[in-house]
Amino acid sequence: MKICVVGSGYVGLVTGAGFAEMGNDVICADVDEDKIAALERGETPISEPGLDSMIARNVDGGRLRFTSDVESAVADAEVIFVAVGTPQRSDGGANLSAVDAVAETVAKASKRECVLVLKSTVPVGANERVSRIVRNATDHPIHVVSNPEFLKEGDAVGDFLRPDRIVIGCPPDDGFARDLMSRLYHPVSLKTDKTVWMSPQSAEITKYVANTMLAMRISFMNEIAALCEKVDADVNDVRKGVGSDRRIGPEFLYAGPGYGGSCFPKDVLALVHVGREFGMPLELAQATENVNQRQKGVMLRKLKQHFQGDLRGKKIAIWGIAFKPRTDDIRESPALTLIDGLFAEGASVAAHDPEAGDEARRRFGDTIQVVDRPYDAVKDADALVLVTEWRQYQNPDFGRIKEAMRTPFLLDARNIWSMYGLRKQGFAYTGIGVLGS
Ligand SMILES: NC(=O)c1ccc[n+]([C@@H]2O[C@H](COP(=O)([O-])OP(=O)(O)OC[C@H]3O[C@@H](n4cnc5c(N)ncnc54)[C@H](O)[C@@H]3O)[C@@H](O)[C@H]2O)c1
Repeated sequence: MKICVVGSGYVGLVTGAGFAEMGNDVICADVDEDKIAALERGETPISEPGLDSMIARNVDGGRLRFTSDVESAVADAEVIFVAVGTPQRSDGGANLSAVDAVAETVAKASKRECVLVLKSTVPVGANERVSRIVRNATDHPIHVVSNPEFLKEGDAVGDFLRPDRIVIGCPPDDGFARDLMSRLYHPVSLKTDKTVWMSPQSAEITKYVANTMLAMRISFMNEIAALCEKVDADVNDVRKGVGSDRRIGPEFLYAGPGYGGSCFPKDVLALVHVGREFGMPLELAQATENVNQRQKGVMLRKLKQHFQGDLRGKKIAIWGIAFKPRTDDIRESPALTLIDGLFAEGASVAAHDPEAGDEARRRFGDTIQVVDRPYDAVKDADALVLVTEWRQYQNPDFGRIKEAMRTPFLLDARNIWSMYGLRKQGFAYTGIGVLGS
């Protein structure tokens, strides 16, 4: 099948390379000429496990190409995926200007009957809006379908090739689009049919509800962690006790520094905004966001508390800048809130991240010291904050850390060191809602 993916970011590249892997003829287009030039040189602009090799394999096999000429790329495609960004507007709603621009280009440039698939996360009504843009611009048959993406950064390739489900929002009477989408996803549905068919509106809502529900679990556990600290309970034990209930399950129950990334924060707010637009206040979603805002300040509050409110001249080491492990994505990462707060309080920062160092240098310039080895960050530090739970931070040499630090204070914002007896080893230790030892 001839596929064009417009937008070559986290979602677009994984989608394009994934469909090429299934034998399709794919072209990935993007208006960012630098990004396309890098891809053409064989460089992958994002860090995502397994993506480099999947791209290389399919480029070598002649099934995957890149271009910044979006018009030519869409002209002959049978399926066109829209995977451009839908960032947050100042009122919380989703900015659809890039989606609209792609719809206009497709209407103008497409030369064959095709399916235009909205993979970007878009609010209710976006499918109808794009259909209208296309109808107003051309009589040419372009079928608009919603197919939200559920991949997780860090596991995106696996999620794409082995998805839990494939949600397709398609009008029931559109046989052309239904047939084409069924054939397209057939390879990942061979064992079990993963497709869940629904109306475009239901598909649009499904994506926002999935992200908001996950975010809600995190915010709820962060609130419970704060309660645990008041009553001498341990949120790790509570998590295990609660998550072993099969009706609840163990995922997304980890207390921490608040959720970040390019999706949860904006999607929760976008759902709140949709509710407001339709006169339906979504109070749980709003509370999820409010709790998260407060939680993103928890690390700074704990540092200030430890240093009697005065962080001036303190050197704080940070392990982990990405919003989660196995990605270089720092968008909305709690680490950014912490670093900004530390600078405002007069502290200095030395930070390490296995993948996101360059992104941090771009964001903070030389105001921050980004080091290549984790132990270089702790040298003469007054505190070490574990922000992102990369595997390599999970079992470090605490003796070496203690020797290198000026004062041995560990703030473990992911609660992964709580069982190591660190207080007995001479550290001041605190986590998020855990007793420590
Ligand atoms: N990142 C994720 O984990 C994830 C998961 C599921 C869904 N989504 C959703 O998928 C969409 C894309 O997210 P992303 O993280 O891949 O974004 P991204 O910022 O990594 O990539 C978007 C790309 O679109 C390009 N672009 C913007 N306007 C364009 C235009 N008019 N024509 C062609 N290209 C254009 C940009 O240059 C950029 O390369 C968003 O709606 C997001 O909410 C993201």
